Amino acid sequence: MDQALAKTASSAPLLSVDGVTLQYKTPDHLVTATYRVSFDIQRHERLVLLGPSGCGKSTILKAMAGFLHPVEGRITLKDRVVEGPGPDRMMVFQEFDQLLPWKTVEQNVAYPMRVNGIGAQDAKERALDALAKVNLSKFADAYPHMLSGGMKQRVAIARAMAMKPDVLLMDEPYAALDALTRRKMQEELLQLWDDIGFTLVFVTHSIEEAVVIGSRIVVLSPHPGQVRAEINCAHLGLNERASPEFAELTGRISHMLFDGQNVAH
Ligand SMILES: Nc1ncnc2c1ncn2[C@@H]1O[C@H](COP(=O)(O)OP(=O)(O)O)[C@@H](O)[C@H]1O
Ligand SMILES: [Mg+2]
Repeated sequence: MDQALAKTASSAPLLSVDGVTLQYKTPDHLVTATYRVSFDIQRHERLVLLGPSGCGKSTILKAMAGFLHPVEGRITLKDRVVEGPGPDRMMVFQEFDQLLPWKTVEQNVAYPMRVNGIGAQDAKERALDALAKVNLSKFADAYPHMLSGGMKQRVAIARAMAMKPDVLLMDEPYAALDALTRRKMQEELLQLWDDIGFTLVFVTHSIEEAVVIGSRIVVLSPHPGQVRAEINCAHLGLNERASPEFAELTGRISHMLFDGQNVAH
């Protein structure tokens, strides 16, 4: 992995967010959700977007997914401007109910592949393979209502990964889980990343989660979201949670977010 990172470090970014301003038009006014946001994502990175509620994290992710268009700036994936949704960018949401309740777990995972023209047998094999990676092989024939919230999230991750996207976009996927399940899911996600080596953009408002999950964190200011800092934290993960360095960094980010300080790293 380090070798792969080193190899791509000097090359062009996989995904580039360049001076992006995003707005919503409501009947009586214009909401500026993000203002001139810029950052790059290299292949195999785990980039976390961190900021308070309402700072535009979901909005940026939706723009990366191609559901929203910048009013200023541009987003490029492999040097091509993102103009709409595509199977090269798969999204996992916070909600537990993102699976189709009338389809089995395996059918849910296979569904986007079928829609994108992959044959039934191939899709089934890839679905089962993806389910094995998130330890859900036993539940392939179960229906979503039979699963816990954490398991449904794992199915959603398997469904996204089975498409072999260039980048996996996750919007506060664990925010609604209890603390223990959340920790287990973080562990699993990092393990999966170790196993497969995908590129991740992960949104959270939890400072601790950002440091655990991210190899790099983009800290956003409150509404409208602007980039306040970029922090490298690849050396701090689940095992370092109790370390003084971890505490020092979360403290510094907390200061940045709550006291409005602009702390360069
Ligand atoms: N569909 C929408 N219409 C109007 N305003 C919206 C819409 N979605 C989000 N916003 C506003 O845009 C800002 C950013 O929202 P969002 O991206 O959801 O923030 P976050 O994900 O960081 O909590 C907020 O002020 C929010 O109220
Ligand atoms: Mg959000």
